[in-house]
Amino acid sequence: MSYGLLRGKKGLITGALDEKSIAWHVAQRAHEEGAQLVLTNAPVALRLGQPQALSEKLQAPLFPADLTSVADIEKLYEEALRHFGGPLDFLLHSVGMSPNVRKGKSYPELDYEFYLKTLDVSAISLHKLLQVGRRKGAFARGASIVALSYIAAQRVFPKYGDMSDAKALLESIARMFGYFLGKELGVRVNIVSQSPTPTTAGTGIGGFQQMYDYADRMSPLGNASAQACADFIVVLFSDLTRGVTMQTLYHDGGFSAMGISEDVLNG
Ligand SMILES: NC(=O)c1ccc[n+]([C@@H]2O[C@H](COP(=O)([O-])OP(=O)(O)OC[C@H]3O[C@@H](n4cnc5c(N)ncnc54)[C@H](O)[C@@H]3O)[C@@H](O)[C@H]2O)c1
Repeated sequence: MSYGLLRGKKGLITGALDEKSIAWHVAQRAHEEGAQLVLTNAPVALRLGQPQALSEKLQAPLFPADLTSVADIEKLYEEALRHFGGPLDFLLHSVGMSPNVRKGKSYPELDYEFYLKTLDVSAISLHKLLQVGRRKGAFARGASIVALSYIAAQRVFPKYGDMSDAKALLESIARMFGYFLGKELGVRVNIVSQSPTPTTAGTGIGGFQQMYDYADRMSPLGNASAQACADFIVVLFSDLTRGVTMQTLYHDGGFSAMGISEDVLNG
């Protein structure tokens, strides 16, 4: 069902790789709610994933950009602003990758080159997007920015490795920039901390299925789906949440408030 929540709004969606991606669902829901979109993903994802199919379906131009590259981000904003003829009303950061996790390097044995890459791709990319966007006047007054995190920023999930550090940094960047962009432009910056979700990035974490099943049994509502996450993010993009900023908002079926559940106790 559409409520027209984003009618007339213009947004940039990063990270829609395939139809499992959280960003894919967000793009579809934002489109249903009346938004005009620009999509972006890493050049390699354009070759390996299906972002082109989403671009055609939603009639949203797709511009390649490696979000660790300030030059790529500058070009991305120039193309997006030219396409829209004005600034953005919302932006989704939905990007994450850890070479350490990919190569099975445990947290005590991190490779430091990989570690820097993890932080750059998964967290500093948000700072770069916000810094360049601010400099280019890319955000409309009252715009809404959302990035995705996981509760491993607060608690220990050993197999999440250096992504835990990246998510903690990401949440701090959202808070800090939320202050500056809020003061200057009334722009909101929030984090959505999502349940385990079976996507390419999610299932790359060691023991994903066990973590998924455990979280599902711990959460009174069960794991929150990517579709439900998209619904929540669309509300955060809308004017209905214009007083919410600098928050980590848990979209996790109740997991983050639990100690132990009867389902887990009873095996
Ligand atoms: N899947 C989960 O369990 C889960 C849970 C909580 C939070 N998240 C977060 O949600 C976000 C989206 O991940 P997803 O689960 O939809 O997986 P996904 O694999 O579908 O999306 C990750 C995206 O990051 C993009 N990306 C990687 N490196 C990039 C770069 N250098 N420049 C531009 N784009 C780049 C990929 O191409 C891909 O589109 C991530 O921040 C992830 O950490 C996922």
